[in-house]
Amino acid sequence: MSNAPFLVAPLDAAHDRTGFHGGSDPLDRYLREQVAQDIRRRVAACFVALADRQRIAGYYTLASASLMLADLPASISEKLPRYPTVPAVRMGRLAVDEAFSGQGLGGALLADALERATRSEIAAYALMVDAKDDHAAAFYGHHGFITLPDSPLTLFLPLATALASRNRRNRAC
Ligand SMILES: CC(C)(COP(=O)(O)OP(=O)(O)OC[C@H]1O[C@@H](n2cnc3c(N)ncnc32)[C@H](O)[C@@H]1OP(=O)(O)O)[C@@H](O)C(=O)NCCC(=O)NCCS
Repeated sequence: MSNAPFLVAPLDAAHDRTGFHGGSDPLDRYLREQVAQDIRRRVAACFVALADRQRIAGYYTLASASLMLADLPASISEKLPRYPTVPAVRMGRLAVDEAFSGQGLGGALLADALERATRSEIAAYALMVDAKDDHAAAFYGHHGFITLPDSPLTLFLPLATALASRNRRNRAC
């Protein structure tokens, strides 16, 4: 979880979604206009980082997904069972308000998402993301995500890898 002075919690109706400005209109609009409906329909879960326990400083969404076995790098797919798809968790959106960018919050939200995905009782092989552009893909690459060979904006991180690095960090503390 985050070391930053933010509380990460599921989005609820008491949170003010109108004042969020992440520098991407589609991501701001999604939080303002669409996410509540997606949560109601159970097609996404949304978690927010709250500054001062009320202002939304960042958010991300999670949903079940799958990766095609044939789309994975061969070095990985050859170690997996021969089913056509591999279970995954998709982080559909991730955004940090411009007022809080560059302070480690994006990385902390990513760590929070990985923690939730590894803690789930429903098995998933990886956390996957569809990066909105090369800049976003570079952010995920910086955090160890692997690009699908034929889709450079789709990246994934095996949850076993995330778990192993978390355990290494904990042992070092
Ligand atoms: C991408 C985004 C979430 C990063 O959030 P942030 O809080 O500014 O990032 P952080 O301060 O947590 O950065 C964590 C680390 O990632 C690195 N990083 C940040 N953005 C990066 C990028 N685009 N490419 C490579 N590395 C990047 C930082 O240098 C930092 O490295 P360090 O831990 O080694 O010091 C934020 O800029 C954002 O909301 N962008 C617009 C929406 C977006 O692109 N979302 C991505 C999903 S589509």
